[in-house]
Amino acid sequence: MSERKILLIIGGGVAAYKALELIRELSRRGVRSRVILTKAGAEFITPLSAASLSGDKCYTELFDLTSEAEMGHIELSRSADLVVVAPATADLMAKTANGFANDLASTTLLATDKPVMFAPAMNVRMWNHPATQRNLKTLADDGALIVGPEKGDMACGEFGYGRMAEPAAIADAVEAYFMRETEGPLKGKHVLITAGPTHEAMDPVRYIANRSSGKQGYALAEALRNLGADVTLVTGPTNLPDPAFIKTVRVETAREMLAASETALPADCAIFCAAVSDYRPSTETNQKIKKERGGLTSIEVTENPDILKAISQMSEGRPRLVIGFAAETQDVVCYAEAKRKRKGCDWIVANDVSPGDNVVSGGVMGGDRNAVILITENGEEAWPDMPKTEVARRLAERIAKTLGGPHLVKAAE
Ligand code: PMT
Repeated sequence: MSERKILLIIGGGVAAYKALELIRELSRRGVRSRVILTKAGAEFITPLSAASLSGDKCYTELFDLTSEAEMGHIELSRSADLVVVAPATADLMAKTANGFANDLASTTLLATDKPVMFAPAMNVRMWNHPATQRNLKTLADDGALIVGPEKGDMACGEFGYGRMAEPAAIADAVEAYFMRETEGPLKGKHVLITAGPTHEAMDPVRYIANRSSGKQGYALAEALRNLGADVTLVTGPTNLPDPAFIKTVRVETAREMLAASETALPADCAIFCAAVSDYRPSTETNQKIKKERGGLTSIEVTENPDILKAISQMSEGRPRLVIGFAAETQDVVCYAEAKRKRKGCDWIVANDVSPGDNVVSGGVMGGDRNAVILITENGEEAWPDMPKTEVARRLAERIAKTLGGPHLVKAAE
């Protein structure tokens, strides 16, 4: 494979130091970075550190005779396969969205004919400001790729969305971009995945939920994307950021999850990893239920639709491969196999969700590891305890083998 190159534009924010780590992370993965450092970025890190880590000159000035003689800004803007802006400040996003070109970074962004990926980083109020959200939408509509931001504590002492995605996550997105440019075994296949818990409201403040974090489902979505699939991820509420190059649809309830899953069809494969609440409160009140009135001594519930069953038993347009997950705490294989038959899916992935039972640290729900048993009509296969990302990679490879061949439907727009 020819050398993969990015042009990294480092904006002026506290997260600029993380851009240095990004250069190293990308270089470890065989991706070369050429760097433009904005004037504000140079208040946080030096051109020398960027040049030392990238092994190349660090570009800072629009009207720099030496740089223009060596490589003009137009040539610079086209010298890489992908332009990455990290940290992408509110100012850089605003300039790009509105076509301003008054320094090297903004001029390069306007002149480039390459895809641009933004990793936003700013204060939570700046991120939530309607102007920034408008600019974000304009950039996305113009075809920009957006990674993050994440939710968390900020350097300014506030909490919320606005923290730049970690260098490893940005590097994952860059790699995923390059992978999508090459032929993967699942290229042209559409995969639907559900993940995370559902929240079933009782009143405006309380809901029924479970401990699912979404980690297993998101890992699967990423593993399938890495093999070239078009992935739609329908997810209940989680703290995880939207994975790059995956169409992510956020829902709250089982009924919303069913509707979003049906909308996402047709698909070649559908995987139901979500921990869907089997029941919802029969009534949802508009006012908070008051303890003094004895309102919460019992909750009347109604059964939720079974999404896996509904899609497994579709008479028309059923995905070719339907995979369920089974969360059990006893007689794991026996209950899981019974579920596979009852719901009508092709495979079921059984996992023991007893707290701390078969897993080194913590339980499966919410934890980083899993030990699964893959059950198909041909029998069962126990996989040892491993990171959820590895379970996902192995399962994705198995799916690719099964779906191999030129059978296909296109992802719904
Ligand atoms: O999210 P993590 O913290 O990473 O944890 C991962 C996980 C443990 C949640 C995941 O590996 C898992 O086991 N997911 C399925 C959880 C579950 O709800 O299992 P179940 O045995 O209750 O349901 C069986 C299958 O039917 C599942 O595929 C489920 O998505 C589906 N289902 C269940 C009820 C319902 N109303 N609709 C459904 O589609």
